[in-house]
Amino acid sequence: MSTSHSLWYKDAIFYEVSPRAFKDANGDGMGDFQGLTEKLDYIADLGVNCIWLLPMYPSPLRDDGYDIADYYNIHPQLGNLDDFKTFIAEAKKRNLRVIADLVLNHTSDQHMWFQEARKGPDNPYHDYYVWSDDIQKYSGARIIFTDTERSNWTWDESAKRFYWHRFFSHQPDLNFDNPKVHEEMYKVFRFWMDLGLDGFRADAVPYLYEREGTNCENLPETHDFLKQLRAYMDEHYPEAILLGEANQWPEDVLPYFGDGDGDEFHMSFHFPIMPRLYMGIRQEDRGSLEWIINRTPAIPANCQWAIFLRNHDELTLEMVTEEERAFMVREYAPNPRMMCNVGIRRRLFPLVENDRRQAELLHGLLLSLPGSPVLYYGDEIGMGDNIYLPDRFGVRTPMQWNDNRNAGFSNAKPSQLYVPVIDDPGPYHYQSVNVEAAQENQTSFYNWLVNLIEHRERFKAFGRGDITFLHPANRKIFTYLRRYENEVVLVVANLSRSPQPVELDLSEYQGYQVMEMTSNVPFPVVGAASYQLSMSPYSFFWFYLVKP
Ligand code: NOJ
Repeated sequence: MSTSHSLWYKDAIFYEVSPRAFKDANGDGMGDFQGLTEKLDYIADLGVNCIWLLPMYPSPLRDDGYDIADYYNIHPQLGNLDDFKTFIAEAKKRNLRVIADLVLNHTSDQHMWFQEARKGPDNPYHDYYVWSDDIQKYSGARIIFTDTERSNWTWDESAKRFYWHRFFSHQPDLNFDNPKVHEEMYKVFRFWMDLGLDGFRADAVPYLYEREGTNCENLPETHDFLKQLRAYMDEHYPEAILLGEANQWPEDVLPYFGDGDGDEFHMSFHFPIMPRLYMGIRQEDRGSLEWIINRTPAIPANCQWAIFLRNHDELTLEMVTEEERAFMVREYAPNPRMMCNVGIRRRLFPLVENDRRQAELLHGLLLSLPGSPVLYYGDEIGMGDNIYLPDRFGVRTPMQWNDNRNAGFSNAKPSQLYVPVIDDPGPYHYQSVNVEAAQENQTSFYNWLVNLIEHRERFKAFGRGDITFLHPANRKIFTYLRRYENEVVLVVANLSRSPQPVELDLSEYQGYQVMEMTSNVPFPVVGAASYQLSMSPYSFFWFYLVKP
């Protein structure tokens, strides 16, 4: 375990961005690194600390780049390696760190390794992938992309065998039982780290190995491999991080942090909190949020959760019960077109019906719950979605910069864009929802969020503190203390659509001055009686408590 790490990721806010979707500098209809570099000031001004880049490698783009055809280059439409180096250098100048997606589990079927592997068992690359003559093998593994896949095995006419894939059939899984695959992945890892990355978001890690009689997820062999990779990182890139994507229950994610001393991933996404934030505001009850957080085991001191409201995928409903799933679908996916696999393909603002108060409340929670928040590009300006686009493209539409052609994203013909901008008449049209308008308007959601982020920076308790729930009788109020060293932050949130009274037991803090964080307005000092607040609909407070 590295002892020298500054743990910067614990205090960081991450910003997830698709280089395809952000800014097109060369007018070919797809975003690129030159465009992204031009927009770095925008990202820095948001107050975020680390960019997470979605896959940028050469790819047939049948899974938006998670289908990699060459690990050592930049997709030609995104630029070249020099553009990437410039991007990294410019990001560093602005104190922005950058992590990128590392796709270990699978490649595109267009990758040279697979093209060779298909030639048959005698080919040296054949064993890079997982083959079988019998599709009953590993039948304990579930299907993830339920919309498109019927089996995790697909017949290859050339090899005359079936190959294994946990995702699309054009994405064959690599065979981690083959030490050559490890060598290849270390090479890939070094290549990108040496170009100046601050780490990786490791894609789809539960599925690296397969073993008969298991569900082929989270296997001990997978953890062994990841631990070695981490040790390698500690040795050669001591300030870098690994952020794991394991869409699992917290107790199954725990081992990804290592054996108690944090020697595997620095960070892991906390998937099950996310749907419960949305549930909380529709059920008007804090129960499921408290339940999932109480059920989350403590993690090693050098580790951190990554929490989020939305990302580039469907809002996944894998980590909820049947009943909860039905509730979420009823509430948030009234149109079947909104469903994609086991989730909902909508953006944040449409999910909350463009209600500014609910969007603020969700961010007030996201930015104050334990973990480092990951924001998804476009959500900061309240972008809409397009559920009629295929797969998950409806939440991957071009960033909206201004009210010019193509929302200022590109000079290409509108029909040339990789996917259309949001231009349906209505509240999400890019003529009203765009960066320029959001920045100009002092009271916009965007400016509100930038301000909130600034205040979050002042307190280490958000990134590093523990959490203690207060349990007021009114269950519509979700409230907790975040404490770190001398800092005491109190969050009080009204999950309901109506005004609510609440009485808090703050007896432990009698005599403390309660200060509203974003305004520094003093609230009454904590007395002997319960602390009373009136909350307007969907409102929240961030307070800090000052010792008398
Ligand atoms: C997880 C990524 O988030 C998703 O977008 C992708 O389709 C799968 N991994 C398969 O690579």
